[in-house]
Amino acid sequence: MAEISHGVAAVLSSLKGGDFLSSSDFKSEQIVALLDLAAQLKKGDRRIDLGNRVLGLIFTKASTRTRVSFQVAMARLGGQTVDLNPKVTQLGRGEPLEDTARVLSRFCDALAIRTYSQEELEDYSKWSSIPVINALTDLEHPCQALADFFTMHEAFGSLEGQTLAYVGDGNNVAHSLMLCGALLGVNVRIGCPKGFEPLPNIVEKAKEIALDGTQILLTNDPLESVSGANAVYTDVWASMGKEEEQGIREKAFEDFCLNMKLLSAARPDAIVLHCLPAHRGEEITAEIIESDFSRVFDQAENRLHVQQALLAALLGGL
Ligand code: CP
Ligand code: NVA
Repeated sequence: MAEISHGVAAVLSSLKGGDFLSSSDFKSEQIVALLDLAAQLKKGDRRIDLGNRVLGLIFTKASTRTRVSFQVAMARLGGQTVDLNPKVTQLGRGEPLEDTARVLSRFCDALAIRTYSQEELEDYSKWSSIPVINALTDLEHPCQALADFFTMHEAFGSLEGQTLAYVGDGNNVAHSLMLCGALLGVNVRIGCPKGFEPLPNIVEKAKEIALDGTQILLTNDPLESVSGANAVYTDVWASMGKEEEQGIREKAFEDFCLNMKLLSAARPDAIVLHCLPAHRGEEITAEIIESDFSRVFDQAENRLHVQQALLAALLGGL
């Protein structure tokens, strides 16, 4: 079993007891240390025992990868999860969040929350005395971004100076990629249709926290974002909660489908990423998902490894 260096252990222990609400919550070195630990866990070089600690899952939106990877991560760390589906708890009957969060803090050791508004997530953080993890909101998907950059690191052996192109909706996934990429020194180029850009305050924040020389670029030209990129990423055109805009979005995004023609503008050794679930024939072709460029299933698996590292750090199990 490999030991983690004192430096990395000290950086990880600085995360103990904290929340992970946004990709910008952590410092660059804390993200690097988490990815380091995730690599050790993936290789089987490290065992961590959280000794029966419990993660509560409050998911108000559907989920396969995030839910199952948190469940399996806790099981592998010797802990467990409890499903706190708001439809079957008193939350669904109107019990105030303030009371729910304080009660759950007496039973659980951390909460992973998937919901619509970031403000609701922040309220959980305010009223809980245990770590709160963003398992996706309309604003961000920070656990996803950790797995995405871990996958890029696996493919290229380094991150600083690499370029990630994101083609499509300026949504939660795009926001977290910009913030996390900025902190890791990865250039992030977002190519999205007019009217579907990421929020200006997130773009500003990414530019503000970016490592020296790291480019955060916003363009309405998909080709400009993909040209020369090391990784090309896309996500659904209509995120959860936006389904009624599907028709409008199909029109607005018709030039933003990731197909072989668009991908040929990237570097020849570029990898393709998608957080999944994917809509083949819309934001990405089936040919690309099934091609050798695609790392989407490694990327999905990596959710497990980075979340194990995250849970170990937040719960102080190192
Ligand atoms: N990528 C992702 O978060 O997938 P789920 O919605 O299945 O959790
Ligand atoms: N942007 C998508 C991501 C799903 C994992 C959504 O929010 O639905």
